[in-house]
Amino acid sequence: MKLVSLRRFTKNYSATLLMKINQLNIVVLTGAGISAESGLRTFRDNGGLWEEHPVEEVATPQAWQRNPSMVWGFYQSRRRQLSEVEPNPAHFALSKLAEYAKDFFLITQNVDDLHERSGIMDVVHMHGQLRMLRCELSGKSEERMEPSDLENDFQFCTCCETASRLRPDIVWFGEQPMNMVEIYNKIETCDVFIVVGSSGHVYPAAGLVNFAKQSNAQTILINLEEPLNSFMFDETHFGSAGKILPKLVAEWIDQQE
Ligand code: APR
Repeated sequence: MKLVSLRRFTKNYSATLLMKINQLNIVVLTGAGISAESGLRTFRDNGGLWEEHPVEEVATPQAWQRNPSMVWGFYQSRRRQLSEVEPNPAHFALSKLAEYAKDFFLITQNVDDLHERSGIMDVVHMHGQLRMLRCELSGKSEERMEPSDLENDFQFCTCCETASRLRPDIVWFGEQPMNMVEIYNKIETCDVFIVVGSSGHVYPAAGLVNFAKQSNAQTILINLEEPLNSFMFDETHFGSAGKILPKLVAEWIDQQE
């Protein structure tokens, strides 16, 4: 049975799940906003610049073809930055939710590893991962985070007979997001779909809430500001995820006990 809530909350962080969490199949989609309080910049809160670059300048296959050194240098510096940041209370709240839910599936648009480092090992990264690099020839991805992998020189694969150049294992604009079949399957059968920290600009991620609603899931949004697709949610909580999520999850757990 699916749950439908038509309530709409703004500043009221009260618990709204219609069943106990240990009876619910929960799917969560996170975006850059959940990592903002860890010190990672979001994409669209800075005049359209991402770490001083227009996103299109560094996150397209055309940019890689035109200026691979610049794109490589940009992503190497993002990869090195991973060791300087830590998960924040919003990441830990989700890992607690994962422990209590009957089923829990986490989709992230983020390429950082903060969900894994908060204790959720099974994360679907629909836009790729900074920890991985991909062979340009074979398309195989490998985890490459040794100190020598983080230098500014291009890195080469271990899969081809003559080592081929590696590219960031990131889904750039114009490329196909990863794991979409699994993502749609999980959303189709979930009871609750929660989105945290995403501006609703980038598809197909921004449209997943529509699919969740068509599948009769209860839809909940936690975001600093109103995103483009906020009207699709049954319930919206505006403010910082690091404050709101721990309160919501604590209330949901209290309701169960
Ligand atoms: N708590 C909650 N939400 C926050 C916080 C916070 N502390 N800080 C910022 N936000 C919100 C912003 O208000 C914004 O709506 O997070 C959202 C971040 O939006 P974007 O920067 O557009 O990030 P995202 O939606 O994840 O972008 C999607 O775009 O460039 C591509 O591939 C990239 O995965 C990325 C995709």
